[in-house]
Amino acid sequence: MARKKIALIGGGQIGGNLALLATQKELGDVVIYDIPQAEGMTKGKSLDIMQLRPHDGYDANLEGTSDPAELSGADVVIITAGIPRKPGMDREDLLEINIKIITDVANNVKKYAPNAFVIVVSNPLDAIVYSFYKVSGFAKNKVIGMAGALDSGRFRAFLAMETGYSAQDVNCMVLGGHGDTMVPITRLATIGGIPAQELISKDRLDAIVERVRFAGGELVKLFGNGSAYYAPAASAIEMAEAYLKDKKRVIPSAALCEGEFGVDGYFIGVPTVIGAGGIEKILEFKLLPEEQEMLNGTLEAVKKTVAETKL
Ligand code: APR
Repeated sequence: MARKKIALIGGGQIGGNLALLATQKELGDVVIYDIPQAEGMTKGKSLDIMQLRPHDGYDANLEGTSDPAELSGADVVIITAGIPRKPGMDREDLLEINIKIITDVANNVKKYAPNAFVIVVSNPLDAIVYSFYKVSGFAKNKVIGMAGALDSGRFRAFLAMETGYSAQDVNCMVLGGHGDTMVPITRLATIGGIPAQELISKDRLDAIVERVRFAGGELVKLFGNGSAYYAPAASAIEMAEAYLKDKKRVIPSAALCEGEFGVDGYFIGVPTVIGAGGIEKILEFKLLPEEQEMLNGTLEAVKKTVAETKL
């Protein structure tokens, strides 16, 4: 069986880590595409990772390029192209610049990798994934935004840090938009299957939920010159792997809703089943009135940013 091909659009902080993780998981050969000014960097990262392979015996070829034709035949495309948040900027400030970039990227992906499963990571996520979908004309099951995997992962990590128990045994779901209006479904957080609400006091849980909401900003402040990259890369790779290996993973992701959870025509974080068919299903379940209210709030925020894309 020929190797799969993973095209990374944007070879910056997240892009470099995506290339490393894709290689370490042997998901396939990797192409890192970036603008001409960054070609040396993408070639350098590719070569560096090529030289890491002998240590653990990973079989994958990596290539850095600024030629969009090199995206040809990609099975998965992961988009991190754009500029990251700087201190004091919110995700929406990025919108104008990143819309221009995503339009250019969507045209290239449409031309060279029309059959790919496309995972969008660039912020503001809910609007950028919507723009990709509109400009590319891709089917809705082939376009997904990475948000819930990261936000839920952060929730899981904080609960593990709070209790000292393994992060692996913590399960959480965060729905809604990828921003401060995200919707953590606290009642469904479990530790080894036990409701977290039974193991952690309400005050502490509330504080953790608040930290999840602003976890991206916490890192922006700490870094001083960029935004998170390790966990975002791991989250997107988890989604790519689910598609490539037809795992039918259930991962909260930004998907185009057409009526689900009362959302119509927008990408918003919902539980998705990811397998060989891309987004194979959105798993709808009954939200409590206060959860639905939070989701409606996040939808208003998403609508506002999407309106600004003028697409
Ligand atoms: N085509 C391809 N790549 C592009 C384009 C384009 N039109 N425009 C910019 N890029 C590249 C930049 O050259 C840079 O190498 O996108 C890369 C972005 O990398 P970083 O600046 O290191 O940003 P990163 O931390 O990886 O985050 C990328 O993901 O989480 C979001 O908010 C984050 O929107 C940001 C994105």
